[in-house]
Amino acid sequence: MIDLQGVSKSYRLGEVALPVLKDISLHIGAGEFVAIMGPSGSGKSTLLNIIGCLDTIDEGSYTLGGVAIEAASEDELAAIRNQRLGFVFQSFNLIPRINALRNVELPMIYSRVAPAERLRRAHAALQNVGLEDRAAHSPAKLSGGQQQRVAIARALITGPDIIIADEPTGSLDSASGHDIMRLFSHLHRQGKTVVMVTHEDEISAYAQRAIRLRDGLMEKDERR
Ligand SMILES: Nc1ncnc2c1ncn2[C@@H]1O[C@H](COP(=O)(O)OP(=O)(O)O)[C@@H](O)[C@H]1O
Ligand SMILES: [Mg+2]
Repeated sequence: MIDLQGVSKSYRLGEVALPVLKDISLHIGAGEFVAIMGPSGSGKSTLLNIIGCLDTIDEGSYTLGGVAIEAASEDELAAIRNQRLGFVFQSFNLIPRINALRNVELPMIYSRVAPAERLRRAHAALQNVGLEDRAAHSPAKLSGGQQQRVAIARALITGPDIIIADEPTGSLDSASGHDIMRLFSHLHRQGKTVVMVTHEDEISAYAQRAIRLRDGLMEKDERR
């Protein structure tokens, strides 16, 4: 489903090209739970952003669900991001002034979903992450782990089949981190494809497959 062939990527710093990903070939099938690992600066976020259609490649090819991403128009890319991909970040990125329910509802505001249906879906999404009883709380009234749950409910509200998560436990204490990983495992069992960046071994242990980057090269690809 996710297919990278000979993908390279550099960032340009003035005259100098800084290679960040070097000749990455990678296939991720539907329903896999994959951890991308490696030291800081090894290219994990860049690779994840490419997989999430948030960044472009310089060389090679990337196809997602049969669509050649380099050749896709902005509209096609926007449709893929909105319909197939759900994004979760280290820093939750919730809107502070609106409650948990409204945060979850947000991605539907600009769609044609009727208000009553939006509310119903937002409640169901909060229930799926175990936070139905916190619907009226503002983000500041929630713990870090609860805020990340709200962010995950928001990512799921449009019904994506692929979850893209960059260090989703990076801002959490260990207990909340494991809590979030149990939720990811639950989503994986529901059939979601999960691609997650982490540099923590005990977090990556929840995944069925670990890909290790070093200096932009794929050093290891382990299934377990
Ligand atoms: N927008 C950018 N412009 C220039 N260099 C960047 C940019 N984004 C990332 N880099 C560089 O690319 C390398 C890999 O970054 P990144 O993918 O964020 O690594 P990781 O997530 O593994 O820490 C780092 O050296 C980083 O400084
Ligand atoms: Mg990173």
